[in-house]
Amino acid sequence: MIENSNHNKPNKRKRLCLITIGVILFVNFLLFLIALILALTVFKSKQPKTEILTASVDGVAPRVTFPAVRIELNITVDLTINVQNRNHASFKHGAGKALLLYRGTQVGDVDLYPGNIPARGNATLPCRLTLQVDRVANDISKLISDVLGGEIMLQTKTRIPGRVTFLGFIKKHAVAVSACQLTIGFPNMKVKKQDCKTKAKL
Ligand SMILES: *[C@@H]1O[C@H](CO)[C@@H](O)[C@H](O)[C@H]1NC(C)=O
Ligand SMILES: *[C@@H]1O[C@H](CO)[C@@H](O)[C@H](O)[C@H]1NC(C)=O
Repeated sequence: MIENSNHNKPNKRKRLCLITIGVILFVNFLLFLIALILALTVFKSKQPKTEILTASVDGVAPRVTFPAVRIELNITVDLTINVQNRNHASFKHGAGKALLLYRGTQVGDVDLYPGNIPARGNATLPCRLTLQVDRVANDISKLISDVLGGEIMLQTKTRIPGRVTFLGFIKKHAVAVSACQLTIGFPNMKVKKQDCKTKAKL
C-alpha cells in the first residue's frame, strides 16, 4: 500500500501537468481561432467605393476663329464624388488627386481635400477640373475638329489614397479610384454621356 501510494504521486503530478498543457494549448488554439475569425470578418478591410454623384460643365462654349486659326476654350468640369467607406473602422485619406484628360493627355488636375470618413460612413468631395488649352498642344487639330463637330470627349480620373485603422493600431492601406468618360456637347455645354468605372485596391 505504502509502496503503491508512493508510486502514484509522480503519476498524478504528471497527469496534472499534461492536463494543464492541454488546457493551455486549447485556450491558445481558441484565441487563434477567434483572432482568425475577426481578421476575416470585422477587421477585414474592404475597398472604399467611389461614385460620381454629379458631373456638370461650367464655362463658355468654345469657338474657333478664322482665318488665323485660334481656339477659345474655357471648360470646367465639376464633379461631386461620393466615397463610401464600407469598413467597420474609419478611413483616413490624404490629399487625393483628380486628373482631366483629353485623348490620353493630361490637360488639367486638381488636389482633393484630405479627410476622415467614419466607419461605414460616406463623404462627398467636390472637385473642379479646368481644361488648360496650352496642354493640348499635340492634339490641337483634333480639338478644333471636335469643337467644330459640336462635342468633346474628356476623361476624369481620381485617386484617393488612405488608411483604414482597426482598434487604433491595425493599419491597412487603401486607395479609392474612379475613372469617368464624359461627352460634352456644344453650345449648351451639357454632359451628353457619362460612363464611370470605379474600382479600388488595397
Ligand atoms: C471662364 O468662364 C468663367 C465663367 O464660366 C469665367 O469666370 C472665367 O473668367 C473664364 N476664364 C477665362 C480664362 O476666360
Ligand atoms: C453611402 O453611399 C451609398 C452609395 O451611394 C449609399 O447606398 C449608402 O446608403 C450611403 N450611406 C450613408 C450612411 O449615407
